Amino acid sequence: MSELFDYLLGRSRKDRPQGFSNAVFEYDIILSHLGKRGETNLGGLRILDLGCGTGTSWPPYFCRLGAKMGASVYGIDLSNASIEDFTIYNHIVADLVPLIMEGRLHNFSQLGGGKFDIIHEALFASGFTSPVLQNTLERYKGYYSEPLLDDFKAKMRDEAKHLLKNGGVLKTFDGVYKKSFGRLVFKRY
Ligand SMILES: C[S@@+](CC[C@H](N)C(=O)[O-])C[C@H]1O[C@@H](n2cnc3c(N)ncnc32)[C@H](O)[C@@H]1O
Repeated sequence: MSELFDYLLGRSRKDRPQGFSNAVFEYDIILSHLGKRGETNLGGLRILDLGCGTGTSWPPYFCRLGAKMGASVYGIDLSNASIEDFTIYNHIVADLVPLIMEGRLHNFSQLGGGKFDIIHEALFASGFTSPVLQNTLERYKGYYSEPLLDDFKAKMRDEAKHLLKNGGVLKTFDGVYKKSFGRLVFKRY
């Protein structure tokens, strides 16, 4: 599958940056849970990436790749992505901490009102915790502790449950969750 992605993006394996390889790996897992493994035409799918990256130090490969494959992609990040091509996906500049802690993300008007097939989060709240997220959590509550991060992640899953279509997939570094009969079901990968 990664060869297909290379072909799509015009890259050879040796030129593949780490973040790009991670995004390929993530799609491979997610698409297998959607019964679409190996597909490179994602037309008709809606994808949301939380803490997607900014086009400079953390390029938003997951968004770019999804958009290249024809999906309708929304990426949210605290920072603006000055060098990014916004004509291929929707980059929303917003602080996810209040939106998630206050349960407002699923009504966030900038997401266009529709439900998603895929919600993705990598190296933002899981994998390792982004230092910027730690700062925004600290500012939000006045302190930072592991339980607060756990609380944040639990609320993020709640929001994902509202935002996903039935059969849709949430992928974080903690695991894959599939929405089934209105509930999020943890899946091994
Ligand atoms: C380590 S980068 C990971 C980027 C991308 N997901 C990846 O896997 O390459 C973490 C990202 O989370 C974003 N971020 C951190 N705190 C945030 C917040 N409170 N709201 C929105 N984005 C945030 C940062 O701006 C940064 O782009």
